Order: sequence, then C-alpha cells, then structure tokens
Amino acid sequence: MLAETAAAVRGRPPLGPEPLEPVPHRVVGCRKETDDVTTLSLESLSGATPTFAPGQFNMLTAYGVGEAAISVSSSRREAGALRHTVRDVGPVSAALCRARLGDVVGVRGPFGKSWGVGEADLATGDVVVVAGGIGLAPLRGAIDELVHRPDADGGRVFVLTGARDPSQLIFGDDLEAWGRAGAVVAVTVDTAPRGWTGHVGLVTSLLGGIDCDPGTTTALICGPEIMMRFTAKALVDRGIDPRRIKLSMERNMQCGLGWCGHCQLGPYLLCRDGPVLPYGGDVARLMTERER
Ligand SMILES: Cc1cc2nc3c(=O)[nH]c(=O)nc-3n(C[C@H](O)[C@H](O)[C@H](O)COP(=O)(O)OP(=O)(O)OC[C@H]3O[C@@H](n4cnc5c(N)ncnc54)[C@H](O)[C@@H]3O)c2cc1C
Ligand code: FES
Repeated sequence: MLAETAAAVRGRPPLGPEPLEPVPHRVVGCRKETDDVTTLSLESLSGATPTFAPGQFNMLTAYGVGEAAISVSSSRREAGALRHTVRDVGPVSAALCRARLGDVVGVRGPFGKSWGVGEADLATGDVVVVAGGIGLAPLRGAIDELVHRPDADGGRVFVLTGARDPSQLIFGDDLEAWGRAGAVVAVTVDTAPRGWTGHVGLVTSLLGGIDCDPGTTTALICGPEIMMRFTAKALVDRGIDPRRIKLSMERNMQCGLGWCGHCQLGPYLLCRDGPVLPYGGDVARLMTERER
C-alpha cells in the first residue's frame, strides 16, 4: 500500500510487484570485446524476455557482490538473449566480467528514458551518432535500428566512434555491418601503434569530415562527460538545434526507480528522467557546473 502511494505521488508507471527484486537470468553468451570489456548475453530463467528501448539500462546483480547500472546493448532486431556490455572498473563490473556460461546474474529493469528511436524526431532526417569507448554499447541497439529504419526519407546515419587505442575499439563487426547497410562510419584512436593506418585524434576531430544537414540532424552522444560536452558544443556551433542533441548521462544509481535520490543532477533524477536527456535547456549548464 505504501509503495503504491509513493508511486502515485511521483506519477511513475506501475512496475511489477517487486521492483527491487532481481530476476535471475542465465548467462548464455560471453564475448570478450577488449582486455577489460565483456558482453554478456542473458536469458531469463522464467523464459520471459522483457521489452526495452535502446538507451535504457538494467540494474545487474552479481550475486554476493552487488548491483550496478548497465545499459542494454542489444538491438530489438535481434531475437533472444538480452545483451549487456560491461567494463571492469570495480567489484560488481569485475564479477560480471568474470561470469561464465551457465552462471546466473540478476536483472532489474529496464529503467529510464531511451534514445527515442522510432519516435517522430528520429524517423527522418540525418542522424549523427558519436561514441567514446564503451559509450558505443548503449548506442548499439539505436544505431542498428536507425540504419534499418524503413522511412528514412533520404536521411543519412553517421557513426563516429573513438577509443584510447586500437585494442580498445569495440563492436568491430557491427561497425562493418552498419557501413555495409549504408551508414557513414568513421573510427579514430587517441594514440596509435606503428602500422595503424586509420585516423588518429579525439572523436570530435571526426566531425569536420561529415556533411550532415544541420537543419534536419538529430545527434546521439555517449561517452565520458567531457567528450560529450565538447561534442555537443561542436555540433551546436555547426547549427544543430541543442534540443535535437541527446546525451546519455551517468550517475551512481541505486534504486533505479526515482525513490532514493542517488542519481540526482539538478532537477533531474537520471534513472527516471534520463539517462538520455536533451543537451538544450539546463543540461549544458549542469554539465559545466559538475566539471568545475
Ligand atoms: C545509466 C547508466 C548506464 C551504464 N551503462 C554501463 C554499461 O553499459 N557498461 C558499463 O560497463 N558500465 C555502465 N555504467 C557504469 C557502471 O554502472 C559503473 O561503472 C558502476 O559503478 C560499476 O560498479 P562497480 O562496483 O564495478 O564499480 P564501482 O566500485 O562503483 O567503481 C569503481 C571505480 O570506477 C569508477 N567508475 C565508476 N563508474 C565509472 C565509469 N562509468 N567509467 C569509469 N570509471 C567509473 C568509480 O569512480 C570507482 O573509482 C552505467 C552507468 C549508468 C548510470
Ligand atoms: S537511482 Fe534512486 S532515484 Fe535514481
């Protein structure tokens, strides 16, 4: 009763009866993307696959260790198991990266606002996707749907991704597939070993090489906050409407439900109002304040 009242007060949609209880999922796929990044494919022990929209995240439980927010990296065009791509940065992510086929992981979610693929603003026009490092994971499902959108009306998809060095690049197969499907794909690294013939520089240095139409462009950005800030600013300087620039903002998540306040950014609870937010409005200012 108390939970129902709290939900009504906050105006959130009703969730399952036990929104804080992880649903056990079996690891049915493990793929090492880099030395410290692993993609887990998870299937519910109950057999039910929850619906999600690209950009949303789940709280994954490594039983006996803890819980962490991890974005869904599946595309809705892929049948079956739910993918999550995890970088080992601490206790929970390390335990998830150590998971083996047959292990059981807890899943709560999906939570938060998505990139809005399928909504009117992304149905037509150019789309510029910019990812830094593992920031490509929350964008993977969105890109896959965008390059296959049925009514693109001439709009193009540009995928710009960067990593510290070539060994840190993820989803090489997907980048090739998106290129074959018609996307303009550009890759850069901050530093390159001898023999690398690709682009070297920050991901923002790729922006000058694309000819998107600022009047119709929507941008989707995910990566370290400083990278997102400089990318968004460069896109605004090119004439793109800040309200059509979407960022995925990360903060420490606990409940995922808008209850605990851990993920607060100014007036936003990022688990509920984000993680995807438009750069326009007050987000540009809030990002600057945090970086001081
Ligand atoms: C909405 C959302 C989506 C996310 N999606 C993903 C995802 O798809 N894949 C993924 O690997 N992570 C993702 N994260 C980040 C992940 O939730 C954190 O890295 C989490 O803190 C890991 O828990 P831990 O116990 O392993 O490490 P912690 O003990 O929480 O952190 C260990 C150390 O890493 C630092 N750290 C925490 N987060 C990050 C980070 N994002 N980047 C670099 N250093 C960090 C901490 O400051 C600390 O020093 C997401 C976070 C949010 C909020
Ligand atoms: S994580 Fe608890 S309010 Fe967002």
